[in-house]
Amino acid sequence: MAKGFYISKNLRLVGLLIGAAALVTIIALSVAYNREKTKNMQCPVDGVVMTTTDVSSIPTPSTPKHPWDHYRLPDSLSPISYNITLWPRLQVNQDGLYVFTGESAVVFECRRPTDLIIIHCNKLNLTLVNGHHARLTCLDGAVPPTIKNSWLQVETEYLVIQLNGQLSAGKIYVLFTDFKGELADDLEGFYRSEYTEDGVKKVVATSHMQATYARKAFPCFDEPAMKAVFHILLIHDRGTVALSNGLDVATINTTLNGTEVTMTRFEPTKRMSTYLLAFVVSDFDHVTGSTESNVLVRIWARRKAVAEGQGAYALNVTGPILRFYERYYNVSYPLSKSDQIALPDFGAGAMENWGLITYRETALLFDSEISSMGNKERVTSVVAHELAHMWFGNLVTLRWWNDLWLNEGFASYVEYLGADYAEPTWNIKEQIILYDVHKVFAVDALASSHPLSQKEEEINRPAEISEMFNTISYSKGAAVLRMLSEFLSEPVFVRGLSSYLKEFAFNNTVYTDLWDHLQKAVASTPDISLPDTVHNIMNRWVLQMGFPVVTIDTTTGQITQKHFLLDPDSVVDRPSPYNYTWFVPVIWMKGGVTQQPHWLLRTTERQNIMRTSGTEWLLANLKMSGYYRVNYNLENWEHLINQLNTDHLVIPVINRAQILDDTFNLARAKILTTTLALRTTRYLSQERDYIPWESAIRNLNYFILMFDRGPGYGVLQAYLKKQITPLFEHFRTITANWTQVPVAHNDKYNQVNAIAFACRMGLEDCRLLTRSWFRDWMRNPHSNPIHPNLKSIVYCNAIATGGVEEWDFAWIMLRNATVASEAAKLRWALTCTKVPWLLNRYLEYCLDPAQIRKQDATSTISNIASNAVGMPLAWDFIRARWSYIYAEYGEGSFSFSNLISAVTRRFSTEFELKQLKQFKEDYAQVGFGSGTQALAQAIERTNSNMKWVAENQQNIINWLTSESR
Ligand SMILES: *[C@@H]1O[C@H](CO)[C@@H](O)[C@H](O)[C@H]1NC(C)=O
Ligand SMILES: *[C@@H]1O[C@H](CO)[C@@H](O)[C@H](O)[C@H]1NC(C)=O
Ligand SMILES: *[C@@H]1O[C@H](CO)[C@@H](O)[C@H](O)[C@H]1NC(C)=O
Ligand SMILES: *[C@@H]1O[C@H](CO)[C@@H](O)[C@H](O)[C@H]1NC(C)=O
Ligand SMILES: [Zn+2]
Repeated sequence: MAKGFYISKNLRLVGLLIGAAALVTIIALSVAYNREKTKNMQCPVDGVVMTTTDVSSIPTPSTPKHPWDHYRLPDSLSPISYNITLWPRLQVNQDGLYVFTGESAVVFECRRPTDLIIIHCNKLNLTLVNGHHARLTCLDGAVPPTIKNSWLQVETEYLVIQLNGQLSAGKIYVLFTDFKGELADDLEGFYRSEYTEDGVKKVVATSHMQATYARKAFPCFDEPAMKAVFHILLIHDRGTVALSNGLDVATINTTLNGTEVTMTRFEPTKRMSTYLLAFVVSDFDHVTGSTESNVLVRIWARRKAVAEGQGAYALNVTGPILRFYERYYNVSYPLSKSDQIALPDFGAGAMENWGLITYRETALLFDSEISSMGNKERVTSVVAHELAHMWFGNLVTLRWWNDLWLNEGFASYVEYLGADYAEPTWNIKEQIILYDVHKVFAVDALASSHPLSQKEEEINRPAEISEMFNTISYSKGAAVLRMLSEFLSEPVFVRGLSSYLKEFAFNNTVYTDLWDHLQKAVASTPDISLPDTVHNIMNRWVLQMGFPVVTIDTTTGQITQKHFLLDPDSVVDRPSPYNYTWFVPVIWMKGGVTQQPHWLLRTTERQNIMRTSGTEWLLANLKMSGYYRVNYNLENWEHLINQLNTDHLVIPVINRAQILDDTFNLARAKILTTTLALRTTRYLSQERDYIPWESAIRNLNYFILMFDRGPGYGVLQAYLKKQITPLFEHFRTITANWTQVPVAHNDKYNQVNAIAFACRMGLEDCRLLTRSWFRDWMRNPHSNPIHPNLKSIVYCNAIATGGVEEWDFAWIMLRNATVASEAAKLRWALTCTKVPWLLNRYLEYCLDPAQIRKQDATSTISNIASNAVGMPLAWDFIRARWSYIYAEYGEGSFSFSNLISAVTRRFSTEFELKQLKQFKEDYAQVGFGSGTQALAQAIERTNSNMKWVAENQQNIINWLTSESR
């Protein structure tokens, strides 16, 4: 799925924009922080966002006695096909519940003789037949062993059937079940989503199976390697439409037990994994197109959204993106159709069900009048991400969840290629630096990080599987695969990839299967030279956590590598098979000329060619294609800073962003001084490009967060105001006094940065501008004069400087919003107010699903917490209600980990540390679910913030003071 937990990169719309809130005075600070956070809040593009169980609190079972106590299925049985009928009821029954009923017949082969059938089944009520939960036959009509006993094993989510005799190896059996389940609003398995259209409440039955929820829809062998063919029949109300993975092949109207219904049968699926199944019953409408190779493409959504044309953009990009992947993979699209559907309630960002991809509305729908550039880009990237999975992940599937990083990392990398093909003028490929590489550096530089790949036997329980959906899997996966593709060269990479997909089509793999195919591609390419095999090079990036900082001393030519740790005092207790050294591809330039790439294979070596003379500078990790940071001797840093200050355009744009991000982080790690890092921001008054500015703002946000309640904030704000003002004026000029939209894609984003940051740093012109736009809207609510790209920051700033009148106006606009992205902007902007009672009231709304949907609750509380005024309120709120929040939202898409990180990010005092530890103790019994690790990280981060403030505050104030003279 789309970064589930992760979300990540794409949340742009809100994310980017965030900045504005702080406008006002001192309090202002939180915004930037906000921005970063918001991005992190996004939902994962695919998948599972949430962990519902506190893993650390589950006692590790001693070796289980019985096969049904194991979380993994035995290998004695193997499914071949299923016949499934499901009938969701979109009205409550006499008990006031929404339910579905169903029947399933699974045809399976016995591989090893056994007297036990173990099949996944969770939260289903099975109808008893002769006192047993299922009925068994032999496919060939012979008489199977009779059932001795059957029961539901709740802990491991199984239906267990003991037989009076053995099943025979090689023989094929059929197991029948008849069941009923709740169509709950829990976003898992077969569930319901509700929305209101034209004053009428409507119910949709939909599904989300990844990773372990198919077993909640029907009994099944619910592991990704248990592929089978699925024959699906959906029974649904007259007038509704049913969708599933395959094309519908027959629809008939009939009466069942006195109820008039429609039955829709689908073509049998290809051989596929259970987690990729999907069923949807709705009254949605659609738009249709087809690809060059005649694949039917449909975009489904609420009738009103379709009528407003919101599906048109996704439809337009789907064809080109599918065509791109067909060429890239050199394998044609494996199915007869591609449906994509936008759902009002969806836990992840999107989910790559094979042939029927499900999305949050904001990830699929786009309204050109109302939505921003960021909204549009999110649609492009998420669609590109999900379509990439149609081959990588769906056609060929990793055998088990421990290799999730390859599936998600791969899609997170190639989504940039697919999106770039669909929108070639956007330069979207370079954004991977911001939204994946720099983002994951922050996590992977901690001693508490973990390697990409885990052993299969370490990942068993559903909660352990959910934990795999994290930034390391998505973004580090993407970064190291990009590095691999760069050093092999794209033609070699895609040759290996294509032969891997062809060999394992409709089957399962482990990650080394891909390495084998890439190695074969290398072997058949005469002019490529690698220092070792793909396997040996990649193992160092995959099997050990973290990444190196490569240091080049241009006076001696010495080049060294060392495990980069953000906190130099942290202790790494996780052993590495490679002692934390890597095989590092160094692409570099000297004297403005790109040099022969160099592989750094040892801890340290000397390369005379890396010496420089005079004012010549050396720059390594061009395009940032390598997953590592770079440091130099001070002289080379001086030369680079000089170059930035004289003519920064000589340094490639990605590397300008890299210099900013590397120096700030090397300073955090005490490898460089903080003032050297600050000196790299001096040239920003000349910088007009988005990527370096975005990188600078993110790094400066940390300073702002640490300072915004302290004595140094005034000088910091003054310096940053001075740096941002020329950018603000630049945009005023190129937009003809804010009447036009910048032409270049990145300029559109950077305009938002300019306004957000200028307002936040207190630039009066900026505040007047945003306030007057919002007032114009309040005067005439039916005609919003604010350009979609600027809405988030304008709303936020106006609400931050305003009072209850602005807040209530925006709340009404939120309640009336029919476009999801518009609602998301308003929901976020409402967190920008500085009025405590408004913030408290908004916190209460977050726990009332009638006001704020469950799917939006965490991100809203987190956004309130990133507001400096809201932070202590949110912290009190969470501490007071933890048991309730955990009980109510524990099973769903509530991301406890984002919540805890957001609330504690600013913590930097002894007092806050004490409160945090107390919180951990107070609720140890209740648990923290997916927030368990985040809580440990919050404590670690608070400690390091305290140290940072103590060591840096005075130097920074001194430097800023001298700069502003
Ligand atoms: C079934 O009934 C619906 C609504 O009554 C009608 O629109 C549809 O055309 C019918 N379908 C068939 C196949 O008869
Ligand atoms: C038919 O409806 C009755 C009453 O609602 C119910 O008890 C019975 O289980 C239904 N039968 C089937 C096959 O759904
Ligand atoms: C899947 O791969 C395994 C191992 O490579 C092979 O034995 C099996 O025949 C393949 N199955 C299919 C359906 O291709
Ligand atoms: C820009 O717009 C503002 C507000 O509409 C106006 O007061 C100002 O005079 C304009 N400036 C220029 C140079 O046109
Ligand atoms: Zn994905």
